[in-house]
Amino acid sequence: MIYQRLARPALFRLGGGDAERAHEWTLRRLAALSRRPAALRALRATAVRGTPRTVFGLRFPNPVGLAAGMDKDGRALPAWAALGFGFVEVGTVTARPQPGNPRPRVFRLPAGQGVINRMGFNNEGAAALATRLATLRPLGIPLGVSLGKSKVVPLADAVEDYLAALRAVLPHADYVAVNVSSPNTPGLRGLQDRAQLSRLLAALREESGTTPVLVKIAPDLTEHAIGEALEVCVEHGVAGLIATNTTVERRPAGLALASERSERVSSQRSPVPARDKHDGEQGGLSGRPLTGRALEVVTFVAKHSELPVVGVGGIMSVDDALRMLDAGASLVQLYTGLIYRGPSLLRAIVRATR
Ligand SMILES: Cc1cc2nc3c(=O)[nH]c(=O)nc-3n(C[C@H](O)[C@H](O)[C@H](O)COP(=O)(O)O)c2cc1C
Repeated sequence: MIYQRLARPALFRLGGGDAERAHEWTLRRLAALSRRPAALRALRATAVRGTPRTVFGLRFPNPVGLAAGMDKDGRALPAWAALGFGFVEVGTVTARPQPGNPRPRVFRLPAGQGVINRMGFNNEGAAALATRLATLRPLGIPLGVSLGKSKVVPLADAVEDYLAALRAVLPHADYVAVNVSSPNTPGLRGLQDRAQLSRLLAALREESGTTPVLVKIAPDLTEHAIGEALEVCVEHGVAGLIATNTTVERRPAGLALASERSERVSSQRSPVPARDKHDGEQGGLSGRPLTGRALEVVTFVAKHSELPVVGVGGIMSVDDALRMLDAGASLVQLYTGLIYRGPSLLRAIVRATR
């Protein structure tokens, strides 16, 4: 409540409403807090104790994690742990440091409770992350590292590039997530196709040893394509799926949205009513508009494979999280829900899953 009444309006005004400025400010505060043991203790005292569970051989103190992209370079790990997250996924990192796309590249859609981003894997590179992780751990909660492809590396050389990133971070990761689903690196999502995914996973699994490898998929795949990706994952001993990344659809075919959308259309007499001034921005859409589609994908994956699923996409309330878990997710992750609801969303979900 305090977050929604006080912190959120201030954050949304910061930097003239530039969402990335608000994000950077928050991350700087959390990074500073991470260096102050007394502040961490105080924060930890507010965290909700959850029920531990073991998934792909790792013990999670609760099932609610921080999704990739929030802390790409792992700057505030002690603070995320003290807030009460059951695990954190840092990254996506690439083998080479890169600036990402030109700004502005993150847009809030407050009326629709969504975000559009086209960050393009801005990060300091896998070696810099590895150096930071080496000084930060142990964290007390599982740490995942999300890996992507460097933009300057041609798709034909993607396997070597992912391998270089993997080698750098492997000693510091409890699991690695192979991100082949970001819409903001040209051609990346093509790596979800059977032959390319198979080549990539064969190489990564040979190098990953006993560290679990997860694959993060897009919500825009057809059921057939998800089925194929699942087969390849099983074939190569992947430990789990993360479903889903952001969507390039602007009206994803989510169950929950269908009726809401038709009401909107009839009452406003416009086929695609513009509800937020940034609705038309390019990039990946997250948050409330993704809830239904992400749930569909998690349901499909859970039904068609034995692989553990990390459910992510449009979890904006306790009910959204419970539906993901009921649909078969072993764990869930939050990103956009934190922007709109703040850390009380995390606490409420941990409490509800005890
Ligand atoms: C600003 C922003 C940056 C993101 N960066 C990454 C990333 O680097 N790697 C990744 O796998 N997912 C990234 N994501 C996707 C999230 O991890 C998550 O899959 C997606 O936003 C859906 O969850 P949500 O609706 O709870 O936000 C990003 C999302 C946002 C909003």
